Amino acid sequence: MPNPWFETVAEAHRRAKKRLPSSVYGAIVGGAQEGLTLADNKKAFGELGFAPKVADLYADRAQATSIMGQPISLPVLISPTGIQGVNPDGEVAVARASANRGTVMSLSSFASRTVEDVVDANPQTFMQLYWCGSRENMVTRMERAKAAGVGGAILTLDWSFSDGRDWGSPVIPEKVDFKTILKHGPDALRHPRWLLEFLKVKQIPDLTTPNMALPGQDPPTFFGAYWEWMQTPPPSWDDVAWLVAEWDGPIMLKGIIRIDDAKRAVAAGVTAISVSNHGGNNLDCTPASIRALGPIADAVGGEIEVVLDGGIRRGSDVVKALAFGARAVMIGRAGLWGLAANGQAGVENVLDLLRSEIDSALLGLGKASIHELGRPDIVIPTGFELALGRPE
Ligand SMILES: Cc1cc2nc3c(=O)[nH]c(=O)nc-3n(C[C@H](O)[C@H](O)[C@H](O)COP(=O)(O)O)c2cc1C
Repeated sequence: MPNPWFETVAEAHRRAKKRLPSSVYGAIVGGAQEGLTLADNKKAFGELGFAPKVADLYADRAQATSIMGQPISLPVLISPTGIQGVNPDGEVAVARASANRGTVMSLSSFASRTVEDVVDANPQTFMQLYWCGSRENMVTRMERAKAAGVGGAILTLDWSFSDGRDWGSPVIPEKVDFKTILKHGPDALRHPRWLLEFLKVKQIPDLTTPNMALPGQDPPTFFGAYWEWMQTPPPSWDDVAWLVAEWDGPIMLKGIIRIDDAKRAVAAGVTAISVSNHGGNNLDCTPASIRALGPIADAVGGEIEVVLDGGIRRGSDVVKALAFGARAVMIGRAGLWGLAANGQAGVENVLDLLRSEIDSALLGLGKASIHELGRPDIVIPTGFELALGRPE
């Protein structure tokens, strides 16, 4: 039995690819059309440099901060990601891991585990919402999340539709029944370690979305919930302000890439924004979120909390985002690779790696705390920062 611990997120990714059936792996890799945004999210971090010091360094370095009123022990949160069928415990395993490592779990609307179970595992949970269904249905779902005791909400507005992918989209079954097991069986049988995890707990991957269920209804299937979402006319800024007021608590708007939208989000009353392009799953050719971060943080960072997600694979990426003015970052695929590679322990492994790599960067840069980071700590190529949608 090889050592289940991995030394970088790249290794977790390799193990996840080997371990998962190709359709499950393909669903996580995601990306839209040619995958240019997906690739740029990672590539852009590599264009930013460091100039390390060798003396007057600090023996102790601090990473604790807070986000939307929740204290966190490192500036990294779990980003909401849909059905986590890579592991039988799915979102509950991720919630336990994030609680053990002192950070926030964000739960996707399309999750396979209930908000009640997830809050039980990590009381520092944010519930992610889409603009989906009638206002009455949205209020019902928000009330349920509040009653479960979540610490805040995340309204995601940056995934408007699903485009094809040049490398092919995975076939996601409507539900897992005998027929689908027969159809996908050979792929699953080629990945016995993944299959064994489910067989051990006598479970089959769940493709329903229990947090989208309305009172008295069975949980809709993933595609049932998706259909309701796609039938909902997109929101106006007035709709956004309505939802923010209705939530009446800490709320983040996820998916901002333009300065004008960031300012409108402030006017709508949000507590925080995430500068994000949905991990390269929205409009392909959107630049990496890290390229848009600095100008947005300059414009609204004094009024609301600014978070970044997209392309975070190393602690040094986190430090670069903080240097541009992010308060914290959220991880999507990095956590999913950890979950696929080694379940709850794999997500803890990813968070431990990020913590230790952030610490190394702080040491090398001569910083006592993440709060001292700023643009002078990184080498920024000319033209790297993009002020998108700058108001005239
Ligand atoms: C497989 C997958 C599913 C996702 N599902 C959701 C979701 O349900 N809700 C949401 O707000 N964002 C979702 N996202 C976007 C992530 O929250 C996040 O923005 C993105 O993964 C960040 O990029 P990274 O994967 O490079 O860290 C999803 C991303 C992936 C890869």
